[in-house]
Amino acid sequence: MDTEVIKIINTNTLKSAVSKAGELLLAGEIVALPTETVYGLAADAFNADAVGKIFTAKQRPADNPLIVHIDSINQLDDIATDVPNEAKVLIDKFWPGPLSFVFKKNPKLPEITTAGLDTVVVRMVKHEVAKAVIRHINRPIAAPSANTSGKVSPTKAEYVYDDLSGKIPLIIDAGETEFGLESTVIDCTSEPFSILRPGSVTIEMIQELYPKITHYQKQNKIKSPGMKYRHYSPTTPLILFTGPPTETIKKINKYAEKNPSNTSVLYHTGTLSAEIKSIKIPYASESAAPLIFAALRELDKQNQKVILVQGFETTHVGIAIMNRLEKAATEIIK
Ligand code: TXA
Ligand code: MG
Repeated sequence: MDTEVIKIINTNTLKSAVSKAGELLLAGEIVALPTETVYGLAADAFNADAVGKIFTAKQRPADNPLIVHIDSINQLDDIATDVPNEAKVLIDKFWPGPLSFVFKKNPKLPEITTAGLDTVVVRMVKHEVAKAVIRHINRPIAAPSANTSGKVSPTKAEYVYDDLSGKIPLIIDAGETEFGLESTVIDCTSEPFSILRPGSVTIEMIQELYPKITHYQKQNKIKSPGMKYRHYSPTTPLILFTGPPTETIKKINKYAEKNPSNTSVLYHTGTLSAEIKSIKIPYASESAAPLIFAALRELDKQNQKVILVQGFETTHVGIAIMNRLEKAATEIIK
């Protein structure tokens, strides 16, 4: 299959991208499009065959459910039931945006979209392209991140192309995504609510409204099926260094200097010897988040033996960054 890429540069290209995407989605095809978090691979959420194509293209395990994206609050009832009042308060504050909610599923929604679960994850998107596509077809879309399962989520259209060219008919390219990390997922099906996946809507922001909400603590049963898979992984082994930045940069230098010719480094604080291949990103987690996944993909392309990564502080968006880096890591040095 040929993969067409439509780059959005003005209102005309936006219009033609939206109408092409709409045509494909209504015909039961899948389309990659930008959201404010990462690029998503979309299908009509109510078309079981179309949703099946997402699992095939991504090589996604069949037991890992998808997020359903809406553009208007009127679409929520078709997807979810029993939305608690406290969740409505969070919706008012954070939608449209990078917060996804686990609710009881509306039985009308096909089983494949939620991988057979009786719950569903919903998010109202903010990105103008995703919104325009949903509005155009007037149907919610199911969309996981538009990467091959287990790989780093794509923050640019070219990374979607690297993973999925030949497997999907269309990629809409609207440049880099704003937040660069997948949405925060909050479970509203048990009391108190808990955060299953940290993201750019942080625990500090949520606790301002509901101090009792915390991150989900793994008990016996895995709440979010996606949590059990290795994720966000470059092909190159990744070693994550955690602790104070002044210490981790010393450890990274020591490690890299042993093998300067086959090491890549991702860091934010301190200096590295000039011969080491590296990418430096900001120390502040809000500024670093949009750059992290792209940096991992670029370092992976350097094809070194190992990627060394300097850890971030575990507050605010740093929690989400460290969550992804820990899942990507083959080794964590404390
Ligand atoms: O920002 C995002 O959330 C992006 C963009 C495209 O919206 N999407 C995304 O989707 O990251 P995905 O499929 O890569 O991650 C969805 C996560 C998975 O960990 C999945 O297991 C979990 O949400 N999930 C989906 N449905 C669930 C459910 N009913 N209960 C618990 N977890 C669920
Ligand atoms: Mg994903």
